[in-house]
Amino acid sequence: MAKKLHIKTYGCQMNAYDSARMYDVLAPLGYEPTDTPDGADMVILNTCHIREKAAEKVFSELGRLKRLKADGQPMILAVGGCVAQAEGEHILKRAPQVDLVFGPQSYHRLPELVARAERERGRGVLDIDILPEPKFDQLPESGARGPAAFIAIQEGCDRFCTYCVVPYTRGAEYCRPGADILAEAGRLAATGTRELTLLGQNVNAWQAEGMGLGGLIRKVAAVPGIERVRYTTSHPAHVDDELIGAHADEAKLMPYLHLPVQSGSDKILKAMNRGHDADDYRLLAHRLKSARADLALSSDFIVGFPGETEADFQATLDLIDEVGFVLAYSFKFSPRPGTGAAVMDGQVPEEVKAERLARLQAKLEVIQTNWYQAMVGRDMDVLFDRVGRHRGQLLGRSPFMQPVHVKAPDGLMGGLAKVRILESHANSLAGMLVAA
Ligand code: SAH
Ligand code: SF4
Ligand code: F3S
Repeated sequence: MAKKLHIKTYGCQMNAYDSARMYDVLAPLGYEPTDTPDGADMVILNTCHIREKAAEKVFSELGRLKRLKADGQPMILAVGGCVAQAEGEHILKRAPQVDLVFGPQSYHRLPELVARAERERGRGVLDIDILPEPKFDQLPESGARGPAAFIAIQEGCDRFCTYCVVPYTRGAEYCRPGADILAEAGRLAATGTRELTLLGQNVNAWQAEGMGLGGLIRKVAAVPGIERVRYTTSHPAHVDDELIGAHADEAKLMPYLHLPVQSGSDKILKAMNRGHDADDYRLLAHRLKSARADLALSSDFIVGFPGETEADFQATLDLIDEVGFVLAYSFKFSPRPGTGAAVMDGQVPEEVKAERLARLQAKLEVIQTNWYQAMVGRDMDVLFDRVGRHRGQLLGRSPFMQPVHVKAPDGLMGGLAKVRILESHANSLAGMLVAA
C-alpha cells in the first residue's frame, strides 16, 4: 500500500527545489505526496537557518507534530535542510520525537536513512556529512514539474558575507556539469516545462567547461520547448560581460533580475564582505539596463547591520532612488551563531532596527505599488501555470514574475498568451486575452 509523505518547506527556492527532489528520491519506496501531516507516514520539515525567526519556527512545528505522534500516529518525523545542518545534534536533544535529521547534502541517501530510522525508531538517526561526492549525480531523474520549473545548477557559497550562514549550511561552491543541466532541461521540456529558473546560492559563479552562466543561459534557451529562462540568486561581483551579453540579445532570458545589494553604504558593504561598493553596483545596474532597456531589478536589504548609523541607512535609501529597483525584500539584521557579524562591535538596538525597517518598507511599498500600476494598459506575454481561484480563470506570470489573473479557457494552461493588463493590485495584476 502506498505510504504518505508530507514535506513542509521553509526558506529559499533552493529548499523548494530540494523538497521536490526528496519526493523523487522517496517515490520508489512507495511514498506518495500528501499536503497535510495528519495521517502521514512520514513528515519532513525542510528547514531554513538564515534568520533566527526562520530557525525558531522549526521547533514550534516540532511541538505540534509531537502531539500527533503522542496521539498514536505512527509517523517517521524527519528534519532536513539548513537548520538540520547547523543544529543537528541539538535538534535530537531538544526534540527527542525526531527520528531522523539530515542535511542539504545528504538527501540523496534518504532511502537508506529512512530504512535505518524505521529500524532504530526512537534512537534518532543523524546524517549531516558533507561528502565530496556530488549529490546531483546520485539523484533519480526528476519527475514532471509543470510549466515553470527550477533546476539547480550550482550549490553552496564561497563568498562568506559576514552575516550569512549559507556557506556553513550548504558547504563549498559546486557547479553541475553543463551536459547534466541540459539533459535535465530537456527532460523537463518534454514533460511540458516552458520556463526554467536556473538556481544556485551564488548562481552566477557557475562555470564549467570554460563557459560561464551567460553561455549556459544561451544553451538552455536553445532546448526545444523552452520559451523563458531566469536565474537566481546572483551576486554583483560575478556579473561578467558574457552574462550582460546574454541580457542584451538572448530574447528568452526574461527582463527581471534579482541582484541583491544589501546596503547603500560603502562602510557597511565592506563590513559585510560583499566584495563591491555602492558605485560598483550603480555602474553594474547601468550596464545591465543599457544592455536590456526594460530590465527590472530587485534586491534584498539588511537594516541594522553592526555599525550602521542613520547616515549609512540614508545611503541605502538614496541608492534605492538612484538605481530604481522595482521591488525588494528587506530584513532586520539577525546575528547568526558562528558568523563574523554576530560578534562585531556596534550591534544596533532592536528598536532602531525595527524603526529603520518600517521606514524602508514604507518606501518599498510605494515603489512596488507604482511599478504594478505602471503595467496597466500594457500588453505582455503571460505563461499560465496555475488555475485561478475563480472558475474560468487562469493564473500566470508576466515576464517580470508578476502574478497575472486572466479569464481564459483551460486549454491555455501551460502555454504562453498575449494579455492586456487592466488592473493592478499590491502583489498581482489582472488582464484580458488579446489576439497575438
Ligand atoms: N544567496 C543569496 C541569498 C542569501 S539569503 C544571496 O547571496 O543574495 C537571502 C537574503 O537573506 C540575503 O540576500 C540577505 O538579505 C538576507 N540575510 C541573510 N543573512 C541574514 C541575516 N543574518 N540577517 C538578516 N538578513 C539576512
Ligand atoms: Fe550568503 Fe553572501 Fe553567499 Fe549570498 S553570497 S549565500 S549572502 S554568503
Ligand atoms: Fe535558508 Fe538554507 Fe535557503 S538557510 S535561505 S534554506 S540556503
